[in-house]
Amino acid sequence: MTPREDLTGADASGPAQTIAYPSPEAQSRRNSAGDPVVVVLFGATGDLSRRKLLCGLGYLTCLDITPDIEVIGTSLDDLTDDEFRTFARESIDAVGARKLTDEQWERFAPRLHYVSTSQGPAALTKKVTEAEERLGGGARLLHYLSVPPKIAPAVISTLREAGLVDRSRVVMEKPFGEDLQTAMSLNRELHETFAEDQIFRIDHFLGKESAQNILAFRFANGLFEPIWNRNFIDHIQIDVPEELGLDARAAFYEPTGAYKDMVVTHLFQVMAFVAMEPPTALEPRAISEEKNKVFRSLEPVLPEHVVRGQYTGYRGEEGVDPESDTETFIALRAHIDNWRWAGVPFYLRTGKRLAEGQRIISIAFKEAPKSMFPTGSGIGTEGPDHLTFDLADEGRVSLSFYGKRPGPGMKLDKLSMQFSTAETNRTRDVLEAYERLIWDAMNGDHTLFTTAEGIESLWERSIPLLENPPSVKPYAPGSWGPNQIHQLIAPHAWRLPFERRWRDVRA
Ligand code: BG6
Repeated sequence: MTPREDLTGADASGPAQTIAYPSPEAQSRRNSAGDPVVVVLFGATGDLSRRKLLCGLGYLTCLDITPDIEVIGTSLDDLTDDEFRTFARESIDAVGARKLTDEQWERFAPRLHYVSTSQGPAALTKKVTEAEERLGGGARLLHYLSVPPKIAPAVISTLREAGLVDRSRVVMEKPFGEDLQTAMSLNRELHETFAEDQIFRIDHFLGKESAQNILAFRFANGLFEPIWNRNFIDHIQIDVPEELGLDARAAFYEPTGAYKDMVVTHLFQVMAFVAMEPPTALEPRAISEEKNKVFRSLEPVLPEHVVRGQYTGYRGEEGVDPESDTETFIALRAHIDNWRWAGVPFYLRTGKRLAEGQRIISIAFKEAPKSMFPTGSGIGTEGPDHLTFDLADEGRVSLSFYGKRPGPGMKLDKLSMQFSTAETNRTRDVLEAYERLIWDAMNGDHTLFTTAEGIESLWERSIPLLENPPSVKPYAPGSWGPNQIHQLIAPHAWRLPFERRWRDVRA
């Protein structure tokens, strides 16, 4: 048993113990995976922590590529270390995006510690110092602010008062601010305490394996880039309907709504991967520069190009204002006014309690200018040719086209070429989006994070909508949103629900 494992049953909330760290295991990991890290998790008992962060940190703890880590959870709740461990285990088992095996849990549990925010900065410093000692010194700090934007400034002050800024990095959750003013002042406050290279503004959609595959697909091949523009592409859809409802997140969701929760964050970020010019290198500055150019070219989001919806029954949910105007659904038309995209509409849609949970990007190509095929052959009956990305953890790509139906005569059917990550036998290597991004932040890699300039541009383009939002239209839970979505996209049609299912590679 290594010294670290001796801690398993110990009362780690007691005085700091002198332990022979780093263990041989930790020492060899340190050599290959970098300095050890104390992760300070603010909002440790919140929804995101329960669903994604705790299991993600647990899983990372067990990987050889991860530095040696200790996790200090903190939130308003009063918990001991052991109570926090129980909370973490129960959360992971109940709602965790990744389940941990008993062995993984045994490795993770002793690294989990807790201090209530109510005990003040000094108690946090003490807890972090103890963790650093357990790691044998030389640790870096990674502060993960899984808190609403309003709380973030107070957390930053706490970190300053606690003296936990040196050798630290800070992960800021989305939404970053609530509008242009609050985002700018949050950036200012952050910069009073942290240098820009210490700040990691997270958008977990960019950590999705399949979102990064858009970069590989576009820029590792010569095949698609020549047709990736207004001459060949008719329109683009980024469609992320969710079956999920509020899930006890009313306190967060009520003042936020679908636009701030999903569009100004995830959907626009993914749109930038689709729309940007080829970056000069796979490195943070080059990627951010190209993404920020897309955001600068984005036309202001006009209320008349937006459908806001609210599912019936939302106002009766616990914690929701009975007269709430918060949108649980949004669909909009965006335009990028540059040489590549002028005149190509981008349709974005997302919402809660919709018919299906999907995350797709669909690129519709222009139809053939003239058809030699006779009426009744089937050409054009199933829409244009499409390139479709599925942003699920096991990503998929499909290219659909018209081809000849076998047999006499000339009938045409819509066919497709499909690829699924599941075909590669490497699905076990896929890191869940938060795991990937936490790991990147531990390594100081900003490539998949957003920037102050990009975020501020997006808030700035959002002003017309935020100042003058159209009224929310009701929609039935289990539907695809209010009826107005069809007018918004006409003369095109939403790709979802799919007429043809993805090929099941496991069948
Ligand atoms: C989060 C939003 O950022 O993303 C949630 O706050 C949403 O409302 C979630 O459900 C969707 O992410 P994923 O990775 O589950 O598609």
